[in-house]
Parts: sequence; C-alpha cells; structure tokens
Amino acid sequence: MRIALGCDHGGFPLKRRILAVIQAAGHEVVDCGTDSNCAVDYPDYAVKVGQVILDKQAERGVLLCGSGVGISVAANKIPGIRAGICHDTYSAHQGVEHDDMNVLCLGARIVGEELAVELVQAFVKAQFTNEERHVRRLGKVLQIERDALDGKFS
Ligand code: RB5
Repeated sequence: MRIALGCDHGGFPLKRRILAVIQAAGHEVVDCGTDSNCAVDYPDYAVKVGQVILDKQAERGVLLCGSGVGISVAANKIPGIRAGICHDTYSAHQGVEHDDMNVLCLGARIVGEELAVELVQAFVKAQFTNEERHVRRLGKVLQIERDALDGKFS
C-alpha cells in the first residue's frame, strides 16, 4: 500500500524513523514534507496528505505534529479523510478496523519514538472489518459529511 507521510516542524523529529518503519513494513511512502525543523503551518501538510489520498496516490496517511491535535483537526476538515490521534496501540488498529480511519496522527512531543513505531505498525497492518454495524455507523459519519457540504450546518 502507498502511505502519504506529512509533518510540520513539531513532528519532524519523528519523521525519518516513521518513514523507515513504513518502508520496513513493505509499504511505499509518498513524502509530503516538511523536510526540516524550520517552522511551517500544520494545516498545509494536512492538506498535502489529504489531497494525495483523495487523488488516490496513496490509500492512507500518517501525519505528525507537536501534539497531534492541530494536524488531526485540520485533516478532518477534508471530506473523505478520517483522521485520528492514537497514542495507544489498541486505538491505532481499532480505529481502522471499526472506523475506517485512513490517517493516523501522532504528536511527536507526546509519544516516545518506540511507541510511535508500534503505533504506525499497528495502523498499517489493520484492515476495516466491513462488519454490518461498523458499515452502518460509517455511513452515518459520511452522511454528516454530505450534510455539511450541502450547507446543513451553516
Ligand atoms: C507547533 O509548534 C505546534 O503548535 C504544532 O506542531 C502542533 O502541536 C499543533 O497542534
């Protein structure tokens, strides 16, 4: 599978290791930057990763920022992106299995590097179960998205 990887400067310290972990798990990385510690704006990288997924150049994404919060909030504004901050391994795979999470967000200032590695490994191995109750709930989530695009919440 192809996985888009993006981060801001807060997430950059984790980036090289996460890139290597994704490749070691047999996946291809679409590198969406950033490439240094220079300060950048996390929404820009959420958009880069989201766009790659919507363009079908990647099936999933991993986003890193300082806390994981800003970049997940930004990514979830993109229709079709289901991003979650997961700082425990159960959520990192269950978010995919039950919720079809397609972007994993991590806070590089919150999780240690070894835990981050296990989180990414759990995320990339997991598959959506397609069980009826999860499909039904996901359908309701997607309906919220459609309603928002139709201006229902304006
Ligand atoms: C950058 O300093 C920091 O605000 C950002 O990486 C992230 O933590 C935002 O949620």
